[in-house]
Amino acid sequence: MCGIVGYIGDKLAQPVLFNCLARLEYRGYDSCGIALKGSRLRVYKDVGGVKELERTAPLLEGTAGIGHNRWATHGEPSQANAHPHCDCSGNIAVVHNGIISNFQQLRQQLTAEGHRFASQTDTEVIPHLIEKYYQGNLEAAVIMVLGDIKGSYAIIALVVGEDKLVVARKGSPLIIGLGDRDNLVASDVTAVLDYTDRVIYLEDGDIGVITANSVRVTNGGTEVSRQESRVRWMVEDAQKGGYEHFMLKEIHEQPRVIRDTLIGWGSLAESAVDLAAMCREAESMVMLACGTSYHAALIGKHIVEELIGIRVRAEPASEFNYCHPVLAKTAAMVITQSGETADTLKATQKLKAAGCKVLAITNVMGSSASRLADYTVYTRAGPEIGVAATKSFMAQLMVLYCLMLSSTDAKASRLADLMAGVRQLPEKAQQVLNNESRIEEYAHHLSGYDNAFFIGRGVNFPIALEGALKLKEISYIHAEGYAAGELKHGPFALLRKETPVIAILAHDNTYEAMLSNIKEVKARQSPVIALVEEGDKTVGKLADYVITVPQVAPLFSPVVNTVALQLLAYYAARERGCPIDTPRNLAKSVTVE
Ligand code: F6R
Repeated sequence: MCGIVGYIGDKLAQPVLFNCLARLEYRGYDSCGIALKGSRLRVYKDVGGVKELERTAPLLEGTAGIGHNRWATHGEPSQANAHPHCDCSGNIAVVHNGIISNFQQLRQQLTAEGHRFASQTDTEVIPHLIEKYYQGNLEAAVIMVLGDIKGSYAIIALVVGEDKLVVARKGSPLIIGLGDRDNLVASDVTAVLDYTDRVIYLEDGDIGVITANSVRVTNGGTEVSRQESRVRWMVEDAQKGGYEHFMLKEIHEQPRVIRDTLIGWGSLAESAVDLAAMCREAESMVMLACGTSYHAALIGKHIVEELIGIRVRAEPASEFNYCHPVLAKTAAMVITQSGETADTLKATQKLKAAGCKVLAITNVMGSSASRLADYTVYTRAGPEIGVAATKSFMAQLMVLYCLMLSSTDAKASRLADLMAGVRQLPEKAQQVLNNESRIEEYAHHLSGYDNAFFIGRGVNFPIALEGALKLKEISYIHAEGYAAGELKHGPFALLRKETPVIAILAHDNTYEAMLSNIKEVKARQSPVIALVEEGDKTVGKLADYVITVPQVAPLFSPVVNTVALQLLAYYAARERGCPIDTPRNLAKSVTVE
């Protein structure tokens, strides 16, 4: 959602803050701002992106400051609602990520006490509360404020007159980047990679006091020691590396991601021991996630049911939270790239409260999901900056394949075939990428339509959902993913010449039914783009356009089909001139329900 940063040290803070904010822009980007502490506090903020703000900002002196990228939740994107927010005196500034759920009540109280508010945000109550309690010690004032506010937060506060940043975390991520003669604070590590690879992950309830050369953390009034970690990600991982968009770079990184997962299989196998134990004790499994990660869960359901043989419920975490009693004898898996998705975290808490053991699959070290879960498997995607999930989804699929292949008691001959197949996947994904220019041609064609359907069956039904999600979120073409057999139960009413249907086929037990579905669609005049494996002689006679992907075992067909559909969405969006890495209204990490 929002991204927050803080800097204190021996450098001019302004360029550092802008650089960190630019790296965090993928988290939210409707407005942004900075506050610098020199002899007085100077705030500069506006609607729009970091680059625009940097271009128009005057040079603000100061070697300590805070910054914020906003993704509006309370109040429209506007200069007044952009962070940082200040108290009445203009000496205290705060940036905040999260939601203060009791802000209305606090605002009324503060207004009655004479505080004047300049924005519609929930955040603004924080600097006013600090002002109310401040008696020359920012840390003491922040501690009192935390007693008043409810909800979730990562906060950075500064005040004229004290050379420190005071930070606090509850329910929203916050890390401290350790420099030599300076320190940084940010919502995630990608923000600080240009300056340091040494970080501290704060825990819920932590309050930090950060100066240029010291970091002190307390929790519940007691000083605590938080371990320093080295970040494995390199700064180049968070740069475009010559590609026009992060999304395209990340699509192209997928053979590497698949290879890295296979190389790391040994460490995954240890998690598989936990998983196998979980499954042995369980009568069923539940897999929960949101958005693209939910599509990975749906594919995971197929993989587990086929390879492990237990029944799996895969559900959007946001729905799970409001229905179903949880059975204690349920093995549970949550999948979340960011590890911070509010609905997925809430589902994890619900599972744990019901006594389930939870395994989390996440891409972010130290994320909230990894803290809540009993076991964590880290995906090897590296930082994903494009808002649309691509390589993180691939990394999730690969973890699911590897975990289940390590846990299956499938017959030796079948297992040998699958093992051989999975090892070829980096090369197979690369072959799809080698076909990029052909897919670009089809995307050019698709970009002229306003509506599209994606259909698939079995393990490729979730791929239809994912193909449609990718297309709609970055190209703004309205797209629906459907189980191919369901199309005739209503959506047929929408089929006509202007409604292309993208049909995803695999040579498994769904193939014949898919051929029938294509014929039915063609009979309604809709153009069909079919995704089918090389060497298929039948589909070309039925479909208008055929995109071929390399042959793989049907269970692995989501891998090659995903890469093709990502490219299709990417080039359709590019043709339509869309802001591919930062689609409107979306944020990389959705930390509200
Ligand atoms: C779509 C996309 C989102 C995320 C969803 C869950 O391209 O990126 O649908 O998949 O917001 O995010 P995580 O995986 O961080 O829980």
